[in-house]
Amino acid sequence: PRILILGAPGAGKGTQSANIVDEFDVDHITTGDALRANKGMDLSDMDTEYDTPGEYMDQGELVPDKVVNAIVDEALSQADGFVLDGYPRNLDQAEELEDMTDLDVVLYLDVDEEELVHRLTGRRLDPETGDIYHVEYNPPEDADVEARLEQREDDTEETVRERLRVYEENTEPVVEYYDEKGTLERIDGNQAPDAVWESVEETISDAA
Ligand code: AP5
Ligand code: ZN
Repeated sequence: PRILILGAPGAGKGTQSANIVDEFDVDHITTGDALRANKGMDLSDMDTEYDTPGEYMDQGELVPDKVVNAIVDEALSQADGFVLDGYPRNLDQAEELEDMTDLDVVLYLDVDEEELVHRLTGRRLDPETGDIYHVEYNPPEDADVEARLEQREDDTEETVRERLRVYEENTEPVVEYYDEKGTLERIDGNQAPDAVWESVEETISDAA
């Protein structure tokens, strides 16, 4: 299936995408991970405000559309089934996506704002596996894993607040856009991860 997963920073897109990949055998296309792997990419020929993606990301701002559109276009051209995470983040990107592919299901993980801040500031990542943890909600069992966990550079409280502001201004209209088209599947993302997954799995199975 061709799946789009929408949600605010910290809503659980990455967490649920990992489950979707395991269960439905699709590619995980994530602009955030792709950009983090290319934080130092030279943009100086592209007439952008800053010269690298990292300068936008560390401030919580969106990387320019032309950079991100090219990444998604390339990834989609190589994927059969996919879960798309982190894109589209504004209405222009949503229009671009229309020209690139059809979608079978559009999921929206709905989570309260105070919960988002708590999730993001407590998030930790395993640099070896890419697995996502949380200091309270989902700590690793293995002490070796715990010792090597890292925090994402944009998960400081100040940058988190700016990411949420950017989300409200640019990405909430995208959620409304799919809602008005009648294709949005709203999922209560405040529940525990397993309960969210149950809803996600059922919604995809019904749609695909
Ligand atoms: P990106 O990487 O996409 O970040 P984001 O949208 O801010 O989302 P996150 O990855 O922070 O959250 P998530 O929803 O994946 O949550 P997770 O599952 O990890 O983008 C980063 C930056 O890249 C942007 O700011 C921008 O600069 C740039 N960028 C990316 N795409 C772009 C685009 N299209 N255009 C322009 N710029 C772009 O979970 C979070 C935490 O909560 C974890 O600790 C997890 O363990 C925990 N958790 C998850 N689910 C639950 C639950 N149900 N209960 C309790 N805890 C939970
Ligand atoms: Zn993510």
